[in-house]
Amino acid sequence: MVQISSSFQIESEAIDADHRHLVEIINEITQAIDDGRPEECARLVPNFVDFAKQHFAREESLLAEYAYPLLEKHRRHHHSLGDKLQTMLNLAARVAEHPPARESLRKELVYFMLDDVINEDLNFKKFLSEVDADGKKKVEK
Ligand SMILES: [Fe+2]
Ligand SMILES: [Fe+2]
Repeated sequence: MVQISSSFQIESEAIDADHRHLVEIINEITQAIDDGRPEECARLVPNFVDFAKQHFAREESLLAEYAYPLLEKHRRHHHSLGDKLQTMLNLAARVAEHPPARESLRKELVYFMLDDVINEDLNFKKFLSEVDADGKKKVEK
């Protein structure tokens, strides 16, 4: 089971809640595979992909609101993940008949979450901790 430890929290409630939800779906998917219900991936993986895309859009608009200077770079990063999301959908379509696809799918999901979602987002954690609710840089003490 995947869990987000405190060092992987961005400390922005909306973003962390989305990340937790993505992890929940991954855990449902791996549970379905472990319990011999791989056919459920056909429903769960598209849910994951849709929610990941919504999350990227929400995160980008939040960063835009706060005028994050590296927003374009992060937007390109999100965009570059399209192929990985497509790979997951392709694997999900095959897992019921093709057992080796199950392990590939599990790995794709876990690495996607850790490397591409959380690790990359840690780049703006400090920035967000330094802006207030109006998006203004907090005065240094
Ligand atoms: Fe994120
Ligand atoms: Fe992100």
